[in-house]
Amino acid sequence: MKDKVCIVTGSNSGIGNETALALSNLGAKVVMVVRNKERGEKALSEIIKKTGNHNAVLMICDLSSFNSIRR
Ligand SMILES: NC(=O)c1ccc[n+]([C@@H]2O[C@H](COP(=O)([O-])OP(=O)(O)OC[C@H]3O[C@@H](n4cnc5c(N)ncnc54)[C@H](OP(=O)(O)O)[C@@H]3O)[C@@H](O)[C@H]2O)c1
Repeated sequence: MKDKVCIVTGSNSGIGNETALALSNLGAKVVMVVRNKERGEKALSEIIKKTGNHNAVLMICDLSSFNSIRR
């Protein structure tokens, strides 16, 4: 998964979080799309700590809002 960019929604918990973790472990650059900055930052730092892959980044988006999605 090196040089691949993967966008994972809901990646601060549950299935999304496990998916982001697994893809980071495989070397992908993971864009973690979450609606809550605080929960997202916590999940991001945990994934970086667990995988040693520093390419994960956070994108704040509430998927129930079209304004947020367009932004
Ligand atoms: N088909 C199947 O067999 C099957 C099995 C299991 C799960 N599922 C489905 O897969 C999905 C994920 O399951 P899960 O157990 O991982 O659920 P979960 O733990 O409830 O996780 C949902 C994630 O989505 C985020 N989210 C919710 N509303 C959002 C919004 N408006 N904008 C952005 N992010 C939002 C949550 O963020 P917050 O932390 O901010 O709430 C959370 O990170 C669910 O839809 C579930 O129904 C399907």
